[in-house]
Amino acid sequence: MFVRPYEPFDRQDVYDICVRTGDGGGDARGLYSDDELLPDVYAGSYLHLEPELAFVLDDGDRAVGYVLGTADTRAWAAACRRHWLPLVSPRYRLVEPPVTAEDHLVDTLHHPERNVLDELDEYPAHLHIDLLPGHQGAGHGRELMRTFLAALAERDVPGVHLGVAARNTGALRFYERLGFHRITGDEHGTTLGRRTDVPV
Ligand SMILES: CC(C)(COP(=O)(O)OP(=O)(O)OC[C@H]1O[C@@H](n2cnc3c(N)ncnc32)[C@H](O)[C@@H]1OP(=O)(O)O)[C@@H](O)C(=O)NCCC(=O)NCCS
Repeated sequence: MFVRPYEPFDRQDVYDICVRTGDGGGDARGLYSDDELLPDVYAGSYLHLEPELAFVLDDGDRAVGYVLGTADTRAWAAACRRHWLPLVSPRYRLVEPPVTAEDHLVDTLHHPERNVLDELDEYPAHLHIDLLPGHQGAGHGRELMRTFLAALAERDVPGVHLGVAARNTGALRFYERLGFHRITGDEHGTTLGRRTDVPV
């Protein structure tokens, strides 16, 4: 089991991991009309725009976990609108105002700028991390996070933030254990942040 940089051939495995862990940490397959919707929102843009900031956990055969994200959320939102949305948005019809859970997800896809908040200026990067159930709880999440934070520190990025659903209590404890603290949130979810110069 080892952590290595993402390669283009990992894309389908990353998409698969994303949907199998996308329901507050549980399996989201079949929840939406298209199983690629979740990964198109939470993984695809990063692989497309900043593949050098994506890392996978390899079990010797394939990727079974990943961490990915952006070094600069403002730049990512602009690049997402210009280079990612044209590739995927025709597939997902925007419903305004959104009604169903799927409508909300499509709405999120179509509005990357919503990730840009003034209170996150000290934490310009953001990330997503997921491991298949059989590989959780063995220290690999910490290892992936260490790799990602080191890559950010190398690029002089001072801090990183992430969002977690309120019901995903396991992930919340993981992030707290790794030194993340709450920045903002409501009953649906929390935004956590962390500096990159503190060891994991
Ligand atoms: C959340 C996740 C990334 C954590 O990775 P992991 O490999 O399971 O975590 P690790 O084994 O590296 O744990 C690191 C530390 O966090 C703690 N931790 C991890 N999961 C925990 C949990 N569910 N409850 C309490 N503590 C937890 C561990 O005890 C460990 O602390 P220690 O080193 O002091 O013993 C992984 O479990 C996962 O992918 N879950 C499903 C998808 C998900 O929820 N992703 C996050 C979406 S926001």
